[in-house]
Amino acid sequence: MSLPGFPPMPDFPAGEVWLAGAGPGDPRLLTLLALHALATADDIVHDALVDPRVLGLKRADAELIPAGKRGGRPSPRQRDINEILISRARAGRRVLRLKGGDPFVFGRGWDEASALTEAGIRFRVIPGVTAGLAATALAGIPATTRETNHAVVLAAGHRAEDGSSGTDWVALAKLGQPIILYMPMTQLPEIVEALQQGGLRGDTPVALLQSATTENEQIMESMLGTLIDDARKAGIGSPAILVIGAIVGLRRRLLSSLIGWQ
Ligand SMILES: C[S@@+](CC[C@H](N)C(=O)[O-])C[C@H]1O[C@@H](n2cnc3c(N)ncnc32)[C@H](O)[C@@H]1O
Repeated sequence: MSLPGFPPMPDFPAGEVWLAGAGPGDPRLLTLLALHALATADDIVHDALVDPRVLGLKRADAELIPAGKRGGRPSPRQRDINEILISRARAGRRVLRLKGGDPFVFGRGWDEASALTEAGIRFRVIPGVTAGLAATALAGIPATTRETNHAVVLAAGHRAEDGSSGTDWVALAKLGQPIILYMPMTQLPEIVEALQQGGLRGDTPVALLQSATTENEQIMESMLGTLIDDARKAGIGSPAILVIGAIVGLRRRLLSSLIGWQ
């Protein structure tokens, strides 16, 4: 693929692995490099959250290898996914490892990059539009403004798989900065309780952003104290991003002019 005036796309030689982000869903949010990788790869090892519309952009004869890790469902072990990447590359395939959002944001991209490095396999990282920032922007919630915050926390809501204690919600609440929370649904009651213990008031504005950029998109505004009930009533499920803090309240000022995604 070449575009007039653009730097040429890099070669994708046999035996390399490209770790690419597929963005939050809608293929129009793919980077040009990810599109080039999709059009070139022999094997595409993809996460469950990579949108079928994105996978549809692959070469007709490229092989799709699902390697989805979905909370609560049987999923391949990380070690096995690493092994697939290494063995396919050693077999001389051009391997695209395609992940939702950005490969290095809650995506185990670093684990895979480390395994490839240990195995002596050359790899390239192609950043993607991460779901937390895409979902908020599209809902009209700015991640930062000069009026409200000069920092923002990206956090993961699921319990760490390695048995470590995971995120310290009380400490995060005390920072007083907005939180953009990935994978919030399974631990929602515990997280809400801990954030309140950390000092966040029940009337702190929150928004749940489900399936941004897909036909299942839902945007629900609430307050920390009523979030669990409101989410249940609205039927919000995964994948979703939870945004907590004053930045959520700014959305209302834009709604009369903001064009929705659909
Ligand atoms: C394992 S993490 C992967 C994050 C990804 N690497 C990224 O940068 O967006 C999966 C979580 O991302 C969030 N997510 C991914 N796609 C989403 C979407 N279209 N809308 C809302 N949340 C999404 C959800 O919190 C989901 O549980």
